Amino acid sequence: MKIIGGPASQLLASRVARELGITPTLCDFNCFPDGEAYTRIQDEHIKDVTIIQSTTTDSDLVSLLQMIDACEDAFIINVVIPYMGYARQDKKFKTGEPISARAVARTINADRVFTVNIHEKNILDHFNTPAFDLDASKLLASHIGSLNLTDTLIVAPDSGAISLAKSAATGLGVDCDYLEKTRISGDTVSIKTKDLDVTGRDVVLIDDMIATGGTMAESIRLLRQQGAKDVYLACVHPVLAQNAVIRLFNAGVRDIFATDTIEKAQSCVSVAPLVADAIRLL
Ligand code: R5P
Repeated sequence: MKIIGGPASQLLASRVARELGITPTLCDFNCFPDGEAYTRIQDEHIKDVTIIQSTTTDSDLVSLLQMIDACEDAFIINVVIPYMGYARQDKKFKTGEPISARAVARTINADRVFTVNIHEKNILDHFNTPAFDLDASKLLASHIGSLNLTDTLIVAPDSGAISLAKSAATGLGVDCDYLEKTRISGDTVSIKTKDLDVTGRDVVLIDDMIATGGTMAESIRLLRQQGAKDVYLACVHPVLAQNAVIRLFNAGVRDIFATDTIEKAQSCVSVAPLVADAIRLL
């Protein structure tokens, strides 16, 4: 088995390879003068390979397609897409739109695909091949447990994140709640935790991804107004686009931590053991 790490997942691929006791195969990633991507795998004997590459940008997706194509002589190609871009466009929100997640999934020509906490599980059905989603919630929970927080409460910022919050809270044996929006009048809504009082408690807001930080910034302000001690953010995929980090710190977050499905300064929790375990079972 060979491990190939794409340009977006160099660190994660190295960590997975180390878990498996394999030296990762080197690839060259360059650009032609016109800006087109050039990829070359420095190994001519690829038979059974796992390619690891998040597709945070369009050029990450092109690199992934190039790596898969370059492995055309392999008997088995597994593809790990730790963070899959376009997953949020998993349906047509307006007529005339594509289902972008489906369009991307259909380009992947492999024997098996693995994702990590993909935005919607139904996307897995769009791959032309068996696809499996790995769950990083226990890894995030373990990091939360190491922080020695006061009376920890795990909170989902919306109903879509409840299962992730529940799973992390169960792993830690702590309380879990979610933020609920109540319309008070035509132009006033109140957002608060559904069941539990946050006063004096350390709250960890958890979501699959933080993109612009808008959802979390609003949630942090509310929790602090409601008396939370410190508010932390945990997510699987730290997209953290543009000014998201400063936006979140301005809103009063104590710290942000995430996994290495996207390699950022906040990616202190590695999903390598999860990916390595999935590969070991093949
Ligand atoms: C949405 O369904 C996701 O789970 C996140 O809540 C969302 O993508 C966060 O986006 P933003 O950081 O831009 O508010």
